[in-house]
Amino acid sequence: MKILLVGSGGREHALGLGLHADPECTELHAAPGNPGIAAFATCHPLDVSDNGAIVDLAQKLDVDLVVIGPEVPLVNGAADLLRAAGISVFGPSKAAAALEGSKNFAKEVMADAGVPTAHSFTCSTKEEIEKALDAFGAPYVVKDDGLAAGKGVVVTRDRQEALDHALACKRVVIEEFLSGPEVSLFGISDGKTVIAMQPAQDFKRAHENDSGPNTGGMGAYSPLPWAPSDIIEDTHKKVLAPMVAEMAARGTPFVGLLYAGLALTDHGTRVIEFNARFGDPETQVLIPLLKTPLARLLYKAATRNLEGVKLEWKNQSAVTVVLAAQGYPTSPQTGGVIGEFPTIEETMIFHAGTSENEKGLVASGGRVLTVTGIGDDLTEARDRAYRAISHISLAGSFYRNDIALNASVAEKGN
Ligand code: AMP
Ligand code: GLY
Repeated sequence: MKILLVGSGGREHALGLGLHADPECTELHAAPGNPGIAAFATCHPLDVSDNGAIVDLAQKLDVDLVVIGPEVPLVNGAADLLRAAGISVFGPSKAAAALEGSKNFAKEVMADAGVPTAHSFTCSTKEEIEKALDAFGAPYVVKDDGLAAGKGVVVTRDRQEALDHALACKRVVIEEFLSGPEVSLFGISDGKTVIAMQPAQDFKRAHENDSGPNTGGMGAYSPLPWAPSDIIEDTHKKVLAPMVAEMAARGTPFVGLLYAGLALTDHGTRVIEFNARFGDPETQVLIPLLKTPLARLLYKAATRNLEGVKLEWKNQSAVTVVLAAQGYPTSPQTGGVIGEFPTIEETMIFHAGTSENEKGLVASGGRVLTVTGIGDDLTEARDRAYRAISHISLAGSFYRNDIALNASVAEKGN
């Protein structure tokens, strides 16, 4: 099977490794890819926001499957064009990717599917906004309706800040504050059958103890030793299956990765958000733990053939830590030279924002590398990830020291 993987981040590096490891994948192409992916795939230049260029490349390479990593081409409808050209795609249509592209649309589908989520109001005028803010009270949760590259959500006790953010957006969803640990749980869907992956937890704030600004994610781990033992079945039954059924009933089946961001509240599981693609950096812990061959799995989803498929997982833990460039997320400094990588057993170093020039490997994005450690438990996985990341030099870079810390301490106590 010839596969084209679209994207260039740490998520795509991890997906690429998984695809490459499946013997069914005979040829792997990536566009644009990155220097890490180039070690095992043929990379091609590509502007991922150019749908026509994606289709042209897939046709030129005559691939059997396209796997789309990032949300932008999905929300732009790249998968529709590929399907129209007769190419199998792992990734939802424009209509289905609106679950990520529009918070209001996601709320409507959840309401119709009976999926538990925060109560909310969708507002366009100042009057509606003020009414909604006062109805819920602090802490205020204000979400830009459209795609905002991780900058669309403000959670604050400051009413003025909430109001200012709401007024700066065209249309906003204002909702009830959900209290409880957050979990990322992904469903692989062929449009009718959806298979839940094991859960992961992401660390969204830039600095330790969940301080600092929101980011794309500073680290992740899986599995979650503290989570309810039925979390996979429960999320499948109450969230993933009803969403996939509702999207199919609407005539817009969701084929691809349905990312459920959950809050485990005292009143039960509530959906915080959906994404229409694999999470980053959760993918960098999930793919290394997945035993099921990835190329066949995603091809089955793309060709509506998932019925009866079961996922197999390694009985191990994985922790990933993001190395971020100085100034991330507000104004990351790019161009810094990255030192040599250490060789430490059971670790994987994923390129997220790197490129090569005459100086060698340099940082080209805010999240530069994602370093994953695997171990028999979270403590061992953490030790490996931190040992590896501490040996990588990049002037001014930083990482959080507390990824999976509480969970590993709690696990030891059990
Ligand atoms: P999102 O972009 O939807 O993932 O939101 C970013 C972050 O905002 C989430 O990971 C949560 O930490 C927080 N958040 C979003 N919605 C809520 C909510 N209703 N209650 C509490 N926190 C929220
Ligand atoms: N890790 C959060 C995301 O991928 O949206």
